[in-house]
Amino acid sequence: MATVLGINAVFHDPAAALVVDGRIVAAAEEERFTRRKHGKTPVPFSTWEVPELAAGWCLSEHGLTPSDLDAVAYSYDPELAPDPCPDITADGWEGLRTLFVRRAPLFLASALPGLDPSVVRFVPHHVAHAASAYLAAPGDATSVMVLDGRGEQASYLAGRAEGGELEILADQRLPHSLGLLYEEVTEHLGFRRSSDEYKVMALASYGSPRFLQRLRRAVRTDGEGGFVVDPIDLDELVAPRRVGAPIDPHHADLAASVQRRLEEILLELARWLHGRTGDRSVALAGGVALNCVANQRLATSGPFETVWVQPAAGDAGTALGAALHTAHALGDDVRPMTTAALGRQWGDDELERWLQTARLDYERPSDLAGAVADALADDGIVAWFQGRSEFGPRALGHRSLLADPRRPENLERLNDIKGREQFRPVAPMVLAERASEIFDGVLPSPYMLFVHDVRHEWRYRIPSVVHVDGTARVQTVDRAEEPLMAAVLEGFEQRTGVPVVVNTSLNTAGRPMVDDPRDALECFGSGPVDLLALGPFLVRRAWTGAQP
Ligand SMILES: [Fe+2]
Repeated sequence: MATVLGINAVFHDPAAALVVDGRIVAAAEEERFTRRKHGKTPVPFSTWEVPELAAGWCLSEHGLTPSDLDAVAYSYDPELAPDPCPDITADGWEGLRTLFVRRAPLFLASALPGLDPSVVRFVPHHVAHAASAYLAAPGDATSVMVLDGRGEQASYLAGRAEGGELEILADQRLPHSLGLLYEEVTEHLGFRRSSDEYKVMALASYGSPRFLQRLRRAVRTDGEGGFVVDPIDLDELVAPRRVGAPIDPHHADLAASVQRRLEEILLELARWLHGRTGDRSVALAGGVALNCVANQRLATSGPFETVWVQPAAGDAGTALGAALHTAHALGDDVRPMTTAALGRQWGDDELERWLQTARLDYERPSDLAGAVADALADDGIVAWFQGRSEFGPRALGHRSLLADPRRPENLERLNDIKGREQFRPVAPMVLAERASEIFDGVLPSPYMLFVHDVRHEWRYRIPSVVHVDGTARVQTVDRAEEPLMAAVLEGFEQRTGVPVVVNTSLNTAGRPMVDDPRDALECFGSGPVDLLALGPFLVRRAWTGAQP
């Protein structure tokens, strides 16, 4: 019976997770507290920074103090990293990262006063990613793939887990890295490396993979469970795009090519792993596992019957994985994850005080879901703030912007509110039991980690959520898990005949997802959002002048 705090701090997306007696009780990213997207820049100099606000919240939320912790699990093992060179400036100061990680127990003790530094344990980065998949997924025996940019000295892990024990069957050492290749292309296309990879994935749908043969020569599996990524001169393929410059078809073609090659390699790696394990299921984690197009390809064309993806597949999820791994090592019976709603929440009284402080007119309708469905059917955009915030990069109906999917212009409206590029899609949310009428593919899909083909007869009924290639990244809503969201979907269908609403994350450009009521009020106040549903309260937009 152990109380374990997991910490991710080494690169970016610093996060904390709390596991008590084998149960996941809290998990949160530091960015949601500091409002700095991704928490920090992943340079060696920032390695000392630990997620002190997220960690402090995990403890205080459960009435714990740092001295109550049996273990703190840090998701990177400095003993596996290369020894720092005598010249600390070598390799972009990489040795500094290792030195800082070795001192992490002291940094953590200073961030969490009362913590005994000797309870801090180091968990190898990819073991932490892997545990966030196989210990959090439902079921027991499973194959595991960690698809990452980099850990201590590797970029990939393949293994098998049974009874909570991981057997590593293959790994791939740096510099060969699918995640880093994708990051390089992201940067080449004028986006933010290690952050905007999902933009490349979205852009890929607009292009044709005409550089695929070139990529096939450079990126290939080795027949032993790993792969090779030879250096590629991307300038030879497409001139780099300056940040903010127009996107042309060549950019989309490069995106399509790297996306396609990634999918091919993942399929080959999965086939190798399945050949060794024969398992029915595979669990995925690592930043590349947020690529829902590749996940879909793996699910529909790969050898495993089921594919489960950790919703916080990026580095934030290693906080959870390290905690789960350590709880298991301490003898606890670790329970699988049942929801990503593991972050902060506020009581009704607290929310009402926020509204009073802001001097806003608000109401408390007897039928909140009905009132929101009315607003959506009337083409309103709704900021939806309910319950615990989500752990991981996706809004899953707790901190969301909702809209009517029937109107194609709503994609542009939402992208304008969020200050995003217009090629970025928004996603549909649908009741789990209705999903297969409208979408093909992996269902249910509660965490938005796969793309789905939209059935032809529906493409023109919900145009704002259909991507250029006829797909949509669906979130299915389970009535028992999310009764309020289910009621909104039902209410919207009663009013419109369409059991789908648009769901995109509640945030504005360059900002992390809304987490607390102040963020929600700021977001509502700064964009053309028509209605804010803050817990049981509704705030309506009061137009003070003509719309532009
Ligand atoms: Fe990672």
